[in-house]
Amino acid sequence: MNSTEERPPVHPPLLRALHWINAFAVIVMILSGWRIYNASPFFGFEFPAGFTLGGWLAGALAWHFAAMWLLAINLLAYVLYGVLTGHFRRRFLPLWPGIVWRDLRLALTGRAEHRPGNYNAAQRAAYVFALAAIVVAILSGLAIWKPVQLQELTAIMGGFEVARRVHFFAMAGLTLFLIAHVALALGVKGVLKPMATGKLEREE
Ligand code: HEM
Repeated sequence: MNSTEERPPVHPPLLRALHWINAFAVIVMILSGWRIYNASPFFGFEFPAGFTLGGWLAGALAWHFAAMWLLAINLLAYVLYGVLTGHFRRRFLPLWPGIVWRDLRLALTGRAEHRPGNYNAAQRAAYVFALAAIVVAILSGLAIWKPVQLQELTAIMGGFEVARRVHFFAMAGLTLFLIAHVALALGVKGVLKPMATGKLEREE
């Protein structure tokens, strides 16, 4: 029997769908967020208009709020999937600082071991970091969206102005993750196809 017909997908269809919806929503959030930031920048720079989404403030807000629901619902579904199926335990653990540091050094010197769907500890830490950054972005976003109705949340964040900056740095962390993640997904042979189709590079 052909081994390719028997082998379960490296990434199950539901996981792939959740991953790509998440990626789409995060990218829309970031690009529309840059346009919203440009309307009232609090650091000494603006994002180049060509890299923003929405055209103007109201358009960007419409994109941001639409993608927000997609992101939040999809993240909830992903977390339920990850916990209930044991996916998080199998793929993201163990995650001790010692092994993350060891694998990070191996990755930086081009010696990290990598098999699709079998993440090294540096990769596991990066994924957990990205998921945590999304949660912080959602919470700080809620705090600046509804500072009156959700005043306790805004207060926990340190007030409206601090929450805005927390939101900005969550975005910055996610953007850095995304740049490294996409570079590695494109640069490391054989990892992109399993996340696109579920199959290994050599399979048809
Ligand atoms: C901000 C958007 C993104 C986030 C937050 C994100 C996050 C993640 C996470 C958490 C995983 C692990 C999935 C799991 O097993 O549960 C993953 C895997 C993966 N992602 Fe993304 N991702 C994003 C965008 C992208 C993009 C744009 C690409 C394509 C260029 C991509 C390619 C991949 C690939 C190929 C894997 C599997 C890696 C492997 O098997 O070693 N991701 N991503």
